[in-house]
Amino acid sequence: MNIQHYKHSTKRILVLGSGGREHALAWKFARDIGWKNVFTAPGNGGIPNSHLLNIQDFKAVKDFCEWQQIGMIFVGPEQPLAEGIVDYFKSTDIQIIGPDKQAAKLEASKIFAKKFMQKYGVSTASFHVFNHTADAKNLIAEKQGNLVIKFDGLAGGKGVFVCSSVAEAQEVLQKLEQSYGKNVPFIIEDKIQGDEVSVIAFTDGRSIKTLQPSQDHKQLYEGDTGPNTGGMGAYCPVDLAPEIMADINKNIIAPTLKGIQTEEMHYKGVIYFGIMVKDGKSYLLEYNVRFGDPETEVLLPALKTSLWDIGKACLQGNLSEITMTFNPGYFVDVVLVSGGYPGRYEKGKLINGLKDVNDDIIVFHAGTKSENGQILTNGGRVLNVVAHAGTLEQARSKAYEAVEKIKFDRMYFRKDIGMRKNYELKMDN
Ligand SMILES: Nc1ncnc2c1ncn2[C@@H]1O[C@H](COP(=O)(O)OP(=O)(O)O)[C@@H](O)[C@H]1O
Ligand SMILES: [Mg+2]
Repeated sequence: MNIQHYKHSTKRILVLGSGGREHALAWKFARDIGWKNVFTAPGNGGIPNSHLLNIQDFKAVKDFCEWQQIGMIFVGPEQPLAEGIVDYFKSTDIQIIGPDKQAAKLEASKIFAKKFMQKYGVSTASFHVFNHTADAKNLIAEKQGNLVIKFDGLAGGKGVFVCSSVAEAQEVLQKLEQSYGKNVPFIIEDKIQGDEVSVIAFTDGRSIKTLQPSQDHKQLYEGDTGPNTGGMGAYCPVDLAPEIMADINKNIIAPTLKGIQTEEMHYKGVIYFGIMVKDGKSYLLEYNVRFGDPETEVLLPALKTSLWDIGKACLQGNLSEITMTFNPGYFVDVVLVSGGYPGRYEKGKLINGLKDVNDDIIVFHAGTKSENGQILTNGGRVLNVVAHAGTLEQARSKAYEAVEKIKFDRMYFRKDIGMRKNYELKMDN
């Protein structure tokens, strides 16, 4: 094993990011090593020990770590990973959990990811790569517009278009042209209409250890309608038929690990499999190279194993020795958003009732700020209300009871988190 010496405290961690995901990460680390050893940047109004920092400025992050004697960094969002924050810290004595820039292309480039999947036999929808909008005309006609168009780069969840007609597909191409010009890299892939599940895992580059299967709720309105958002809620575990989990392991996770090993990727962090299941078969829609938000807000409360130990094992390359254990029962997260989100919304609204929420509810903050002892809204997604109970039904009603106590002007939330039928995942049809 690689023994290194650190001048920095190896028992202090910096979580990078500002959402509910980062609040959950910091909260989980704090259970292992205490809040005084957990720093977050830039954080938000609810995360203790939040520090305003521009996390795209890697030098500033390094200076902060040196000043606070922080020995380890956990990166929440994709942007710094795609821009090479892990590569930057390789030459320092500060350890960082995450993939390097090359491995982060699994998320940052849909074309890179699809070619990787193809090369290593990862089950995924058939696809074609294009570098010019005009070249896609024939395929669109042939498929009668029933296809999925994916812009190649990071687009903050706004680069994927599921189409149902030629006119719709052509409109998407026009939009891509307007934003990026005619020479724009993109993918067209087969549309698979099934049920989705997220499998989030850790890797040290040698093995992959999964957390519980989870599901988010991307669309704004009940019944999965309306515009896409960052996520309106999540729950775990998803009751996956064992045959389906076996299929995911065999045809998605195992070949991915083979690829990471063969390519000798520097990958010590989180790998997220976005999966579609149809007729008993699973297809990988995408990789993310970090935790999902809001899935993290249920997965980490459900995780019994120390995140600190998992993080260290990822860095040291002995993740295979870690046993993942989970709290029994179900976790539900209802996201409270500002009225108008994901479009225009107002900020600075006073949030009432946080203190009235029962002790067994966890409220992870997202777009909030703390001012003169009060908590104000400061973003689109404002709070995550997380409940735990023996059944999904009970967890849901506990979460919604707690939501009733919290109030801010124009607060909105979905009332059907965790209520999907998921026929394809259960295989009992
Ligand atoms: N091949 C596909 N068939 C059907 N729906 C798809 C397909 N690929 C993506 N989608 C839908 O589009 C959403 C976003 O696609 P994804 O690849 O996860 O990109 P991103 O999260 O980067 O926007 C998915 O969650 C899924 O609902
Ligand atoms: Mg996705």
